[in-house]
Amino acid sequence: MKNSLLASSSTMSSPALPQQPLWRPYIQRLPVKIKYLKPRATTLHRRKPAAPSSFKAEERGVEFDTGDSFFRCESAVGRDLGVLAAAVQRRSSGGGLRVLDAMCGCSIRYLVQAEADFVWANDAFEGHRGLIASNLSSAVSRVSEGGGRRWVVTHYDANRLLVERYLQRDYFDLVDVDSFGSDSWFIRSAIASVKIGGLLYLTCTDGFSSGGHRPQHSLSSYGAYVRPMPYSNEVGLRMLIGGALREAAASGFLVSPLFSYYSFHGPVFRVMLQVFRGNLNDSSNYGFISYCNRCGHSQTYQWAELGQISCPCRNGMVSHSVVVSGPLWTGPLHSTAYVSKMLALAREWGWACNSKKSSLLEKSLNQFIDESDTQLPPGYIKLDEIASRAKINSPPASAILNALQKEGYTACRSHIKHNAIKTNCPMAECMVIARELQDAKPSNSFLSV
Ligand SMILES: C[S@@+](CC[C@H](N)C(=O)[O-])C[C@H]1O[C@@H](n2cnc3c(N)ncnc32)[C@H](O)[C@@H]1O
Ligand SMILES: [Zn+2]
Repeated sequence: MKNSLLASSSTMSSPALPQQPLWRPYIQRLPVKIKYLKPRATTLHRRKPAAPSSFKAEERGVEFDTGDSFFRCESAVGRDLGVLAAAVQRRSSGGGLRVLDAMCGCSIRYLVQAEADFVWANDAFEGHRGLIASNLSSAVSRVSEGGGRRWVVTHYDANRLLVERYLQRDYFDLVDVDSFGSDSWFIRSAIASVKIGGLLYLTCTDGFSSGGHRPQHSLSSYGAYVRPMPYSNEVGLRMLIGGALREAAASGFLVSPLFSYYSFHGPVFRVMLQVFRGNLNDSSNYGFISYCNRCGHSQTYQWAELGQISCPCRNGMVSHSVVVSGPLWTGPLHSTAYVSKMLALAREWGWACNSKKSSLLEKSLNQFIDESDTQLPPGYIKLDEIASRAKINSPPASAILNALQKEGYTACRSHIKHNAIKTNCPMAECMVIARELQDAKPSNSFLSV
């Protein structure tokens, strides 16, 4: 049973890993970095010592066994988004979708819902071999009618697999590396194994690094010195994209985000990047973000402006109240065109209807479209911060958004933080507008948000 599931060059439609018995001793000789985090008691299933556990999960009509693998039902929106992006990619390239799920856990959704023609399902934990294979085979036969392989299961360290696929010139339309913490050592090999124009789905779950509490750590992982900022969860997404951009640039590629998704459970930062050929230049959206603790003003800086960082509240003088993070991605977090296609597909599939589960997906996609406006700078402004700086009650989000738009500013809600807005209006002007709103209303009208 086990051996029949191994990749074999005689049966696979794609170039294969080295023939047996090479792979096992080969993998044992080299240090392999594998993390297997025990799921939290609330979200993960208890391990049974004797027989493998069987726990059924259902997502968008697809049933699969989660066993005692690392599976979080809260990550469903992240998986929905991955499947939608993969399906859009399949449609726009006219079919032939090949997916490499480098840390797959037990998930089978690319194969079933994105109708991938081939899925390479890899998870370093060999104990899940039967689980993954039985999930895949109960959905789609291992070999297609034409005799080509539809899926393969392996248990390599993700980085080793990605390097090997690259060396075999076996490229994928989508590579998903759903890693833990701020692991990043595989990013360059993942980029190398994606087709030009293909997609790379990356994860970070390190809220300490994005929060600016481990700047040396974020520097090691993503090349970014991150300081505490009030919009740290957006900084987390920008740190991850920037880290990937740096790795891509080293080998003559660039990446651009199609969508960027933050979820508070974990926390989880997920970015879907498109890989293409190119080199960094002055308009590459890879620079620095400053925040002034004194006045709340944020600004972006290019590399050439590094000696000129200051805040308008200090008339260009050096100030300890200004914190700077970077280099980070400073461009839009999403592609309007790509997310619009994903939303259209979600509606076509009935994934964007009124049930509680579906509405979260639709809401996120709509917010991504709003946030993708190229006029919007990095960061978001918490309404409570406007209120406390202006010494007023917190303004309702809808009222301040209307007022900002009337004044000609771009403004929308943030998908990351409830009760926060993204706008190109500076903090000082937001305070003026919020005060005017309060003055125009009867007293106490700002108490509820
Ligand atoms: C966050 S879970 C994956 C969840 C899955 N993508 C999903 O959506 O349900 C990460 C998985 O990576 C596996 N893993 C950890 N380190 C690895 C490595 N170095 N190479 C490959 N897999 C690894 C773990 O066994 C775990 O199943
Ligand atoms: Zn200032």
